[in-house]
Amino acid sequence: MKPMRTLDDLDLGTLHSVVTLVRVDFNVPLTDGRVADSARLEAALPTLAELRRAGARLLLVSHCGRPDGRPVPEMSLRPVAEELQRLLGAPVVFADDCVGKAVEKAVAVLAPGSVALLENLRFHAGEEANDPDFATQLAAPAEVFVNDAFGTAHRAHASTVGVAERLERRAAGRLLVREVEALEALLADPERPFAAVLGGAKISGKADTLENLLPRVDLVILGGAMANTFLAAQGGQLGRSLVEPERIDLARQILVAAAERGVRVVLPTDLVVTDDLKRPGRVETVAAMDVPEDLMAVDIGPETCATIAAELAAAGTIFWNGPMGVFEQPPFDSGTRAVAGSVAASAGRSVIGGGETLAAARRAGVADQIDHVSTGGGAALELLAGRSLPGVEILRRSS
Ligand code: 3PG
Repeated sequence: MKPMRTLDDLDLGTLHSVVTLVRVDFNVPLTDGRVADSARLEAALPTLAELRRAGARLLLVSHCGRPDGRPVPEMSLRPVAEELQRLLGAPVVFADDCVGKAVEKAVAVLAPGSVALLENLRFHAGEEANDPDFATQLAAPAEVFVNDAFGTAHRAHASTVGVAERLERRAAGRLLVREVEALEALLADPERPFAAVLGGAKISGKADTLENLLPRVDLVILGGAMANTFLAAQGGQLGRSLVEPERIDLARQILVAAAERGVRVVLPTDLVVTDDLKRPGRVETVAAMDVPEDLMAVDIGPETCATIAAELAAAGTIFWNGPMGVFEQPPFDSGTRAVAGSVAASAGRSVIGGGETLAAARRAGVADQIDHVSTGGGAALELLAGRSLPGVEILRRSS
């Protein structure tokens, strides 16, 4: 596989005054018109700093949310421009459209080394459709294209693929390179034992990743509601817990494939259960295979946490994606917090991915003890599923 073109290939010394379109992933949570979590903005800063130092005139583009091809005021990137301005300590011009007159006006006032953020790409249906006309309009003001949006690299959209096809001077930003290298290293040459910790609500979206990881890992640790389906596949009684009945067979197949490869699968042995998620009257810890009929699992139990802690302490490499329970609702965040602590405490190389997983690590106060915190959830899972990412492929060298 050819390496990606990087900022070094762009010959930064030639970028002074050059309009450079930078695809970032500023798909961040917005609460009451403010950025609630700026991790994705901070992750883009090294690339922006380097391009600004080179004197490039930066047009930043991103999506935010899923507005379905029409303007949705609550998904405007305007608050993101304000937060970016604060982080950069420099003015950020905001253009209220990502193509046409608004962009021309922004470019006209853009001095070398300065930054404009354009409005949400997905306010245009042409973005997700990778519409040729839209891609041409998007690319029009720029001579150079830099993609630093790892979180969106699995999408073949106008701003990730169409624009790259139209601008010969194109490269991956520092974040995109770092992310791809960190995740590819997991597939290529992990320190052993390699433990994959997967949680979250559903098996769908993770099954392919799990299957691709099986030949590479020594151990799979499952939690969250997706573990319920595996417990059901082993004959467990899950009461009113979330189970994906249509995926029980798939779970059984994965367990058989793991056994054939000698990969150990660690499932919860105890679960925290409740009668009502919103207004919990009863909260109990029960055996994982025997959830009472009227209760539902909302977290892994203390015995499971202790097992996971021991396994992760001995791991040489850890990949973690997905919470172990309803972590946004204390006290059902205990298991996820405990796992975050165990991942951070391990001497093994730790990589985590996904918005919820990062939020959990942050809440547990351990995010800075993780070796690589990926800004991409879906993109990281796709890469680990062995699929090529369109936004990455288009940036690979041709020779
Ligand atoms: C993400 O948050 O995973 C990325 O920004 C991609 O967003 P999407 O799933 O809406 O394409």
